[in-house]
Amino acid sequence: MHPVSRNSERLLLRELTLDDVTAVHAIYGSPAATEHLSFEPRSREQVGHIVARSMVSALAAPREEYALAVCEREAGRLVGYARLALDGQGQQAATIGFALHPEVWGAGYGTELVRALLTLGFEDLRLHRIWAARSPENGASQTVLDRAGLVEEGRIRHHVHVRGAWRDSIVHSAIRDEWTSAPPV
Ligand SMILES: CC(C)(COP(=O)(O)OP(=O)(O)OC[C@H]1O[C@@H](n2cnc3c(N)ncnc32)[C@H](O)[C@@H]1OP(=O)(O)O)[C@@H](O)C(=O)NCCC(=O)NCCS
Repeated sequence: MHPVSRNSERLLLRELTLDDVTAVHAIYGSPAATEHLSFEPRSREQVGHIVARSMVSALAAPREEYALAVCEREAGRLVGYARLALDGQGQQAATIGFALHPEVWGAGYGTELVRALLTLGFEDLRLHRIWAARSPENGASQTVLDRAGLVEEGRIRHHVHVRGAWRDSIVHSAIRDEWTSAPPV
């Protein structure tokens, strides 16, 4: 599916362009925003490569990655980066990742964004399972995933190697049948 353009109440998820590099770098280059992520703050050059790769993967057929700009609908400002990546091998499953600029944290955007990703995955892409892995220390992510209706299902030990050490991940998932019978409000 291309191009993606999905509105929620206050946010717009849209395809990335090269004009977004500075705004994405304000997030991925930020020590606060990446504190619990699986990588250290990115340089502007690295973010340029990420955005360029995302634009190429958006045109792949079949498309396996949806790396999207998260914008405030009213102001048009890019405030986040979101990614839904298919697990592959016909599993009708995908993992999601997301990060918002620290300036907008605490206003409910995170919950709204995860709900929008679930809608994209379940409604538009007809997926069966959507999951996310977070750092055990990432309390804000835990709150957001819970509120959006994902269920905590366990711990992957030593899932990522970051900042010189192995880190566990906590996995949350949503299943299509549960979501369609009782979509979170
Ligand atoms: C996770 C993230 C997307 C949340 O975005 P957000 O817009 O602040 O989310 P929301 O406003 O919808 O909800 C956050 C809730 O978590 C709460 N929270 C914040 N820190 C918390 C913590 N350490 N423990 C528990 N809850 C916490 C907030 O108080 C808020 O609840 P409230 O509405 O009752 O005040 C944002 O913090 C972020 O981008 N973090 C950096 C990247 C990241 O960690 N991504 C997730 C990868 S799995």
